[in-house]
Amino acid sequence: MAQVHLTMFLASILAISLIAAASGAIQDSVKISWGEDRAEISENGELLTLKLDQGSGSGFQSNDEYLFAEVSISLKLVAGNSAGTVTAFYLSSIGDEHDEIDFEFLGNASGSPYTVHTNVFDKGVGNREQQFYLWFDPTMDFHTYTILWNKKNIIFSVDGTVIRVYKNNAAKGAGYPSDQPMRVYSSLWNAEDWATQGGKVKTDWSKAPFRAFYRNYIANACVWSAGGTACSSVPTSWMDYEITSQEVSKMKELQKTYMVYNYCEDKNRFGQTMPVECGLALN
Ligand SMILES: *[C@@H]1O[C@H](CO)[C@@H](O)[C@H](O)[C@H]1NC(C)=O
Repeated sequence: MAQVHLTMFLASILAISLIAAASGAIQDSVKISWGEDRAEISENGELLTLKLDQGSGSGFQSNDEYLFAEVSISLKLVAGNSAGTVTAFYLSSIGDEHDEIDFEFLGNASGSPYTVHTNVFDKGVGNREQQFYLWFDPTMDFHTYTILWNKKNIIFSVDGTVIRVYKNNAAKGAGYPSDQPMRVYSSLWNAEDWATQGGKVKTDWSKAPFRAFYRNYIANACVWSAGGTACSSVPTSWMDYEITSQEVSKMKELQKTYMVYNYCEDKNRFGQTMPVECGLALN
């Protein structure tokens, strides 16, 4: 009898520790890498706070570098008058010809919507911006922002809803980041010269310090090292996940309401030579 109880006890400890690993205390996966005195980790390593004051901002980066990954974070953005502030969550490699996949949240005056700015860089070249409004107030609660980057496509989602897909059309001449390992970075910084309403609305420093909050960093990833990559085996579905045509239709429906800028529709900018991928299907 005692033996049975002990076994059950051990089994439940094991179950609890597995849950803890899966939920990802943020301090186990990232380190504060910029503006150390303006960033802090609290609640037993579960909550990371970035601050921005008149001096400067702050940021963190993932411990690991990935060569393909699905990364998610729960984020609560700067509340109140966040004009001039930018909160970024992105993947990036290093060097002049770097690859990058961006989520950037452009603050706004109180009561005006945040803009979610997305971009994809391949060998140092971006110019693939799409911007969105959200269907909720991102400063009231934590919401989950996910970048899935595999060999087939890059999928940006918010609370599990796909807002953008960038397909690997390298075979048809479109750039695609696929051979440089990337790390996750996040930062809160000041960009009052351009971020809000094109730079017209400046930061209200009387409201500083500004704060953004992070929890639940999750990476389903192939971790890169000089010796090669090691892919987490559970779950593997992200590795070859490709958006379905139903999901593309659903995303296009959502974009009718929430997309505020699409480089693929900016004829003034690109003229006769629109980027190749703009004319190609997403799945
Ligand atoms: C801020 O709000 C204005 C007015 O509602 C809107 O035009 C703009 O797109 C919003 N976002 C930014 C980043 O300026």
